[in-house]
Amino acid sequence: MQLTQLLRNSVGRKLIMAVSGLLVTGFVVSHLLGNLALFAGQEAFNLYAAQLQQLGPLLWLFRLGLAGTLLLHVFFGIWLTLQNRAAKPTGYAINRIRSTNLAAKTMVFTGMALLLFLIGHLLHFTFRRIGLPPELAHDAGGTLDVFDMVTLSFQQGFPVLLYAGAMLALFLHLGHGLGSALQTLGACNDKFLPGVRKGGFIVALALLLGYVSIPVLTFFGFVTP
Ligand code: HEM
Repeated sequence: MQLTQLLRNSVGRKLIMAVSGLLVTGFVVSHLLGNLALFAGQEAFNLYAAQLQQLGPLLWLFRLGLAGTLLLHVFFGIWLTLQNRAAKPTGYAINRIRSTNLAAKTMVFTGMALLLFLIGHLLHFTFRRIGLPPELAHDAGGTLDVFDMVTLSFQQGFPVLLYAGAMLALFLHLGHGLGSALQTLGACNDKFLPGVRKGGFIVALALLLGYVSIPVLTFFGFVTP
């Protein structure tokens, strides 16, 4: 299928949503695996952070790719939502499938919450403009110890609550989105559909538990700066 054809029909647009969603999920999984190094201690976590920085131009290429993929996902998500609203009550074939549970009904809202979280998260840990405890804030422009930055941040209740809330949104979004994406890509027929949906839910749950463990266990003193 040519690109113009892909964009012109709603199934093509849904395909773009599915592929971009799965690519971003790939990042979310690898980001969690990297972040879990926090539980291995200061040295291991800072080594992981330093190795990422050493990727240099490759890191920037990756960032650009990720940002572009995310933008595609958001843009087509909004487009498809508006299109579905306009087409109701009939909708189109793929979208008519039992979209009735909470996760399915709130996809746009959890998606928007995640976008807001991501902006805040980048301002927090990448650009270091917000959410840093006072003892670190004055170093934010220089070379901060990444382990201290994360652990000291999560000794404050408010960031922990915000991160936990965002991870709940991530769980709802992926709990529905992963199964939906695989279904769009034709990875399952009616027989396998429940299994694929359950698999998506389990991956989303594992991501929720993994991500939430970082702020919560740090807050309760299992990881100390
Ligand atoms: C407890 C949860 C999380 C922790 C502790 C965490 C930690 C971090 C840290 C420390 C950085 C900065 C790395 C550095 O500049 O050295 C970072 C960057 C980033 N995080 Fe997270 N993160 C979490 C959740 C998430 C989630 C759920 C997403 C996506 C939805 C995400 C997306 C990103 C992105 C896109 C970057 C920028 C990567 C880059 O600079 O190349 N993070 N995160």
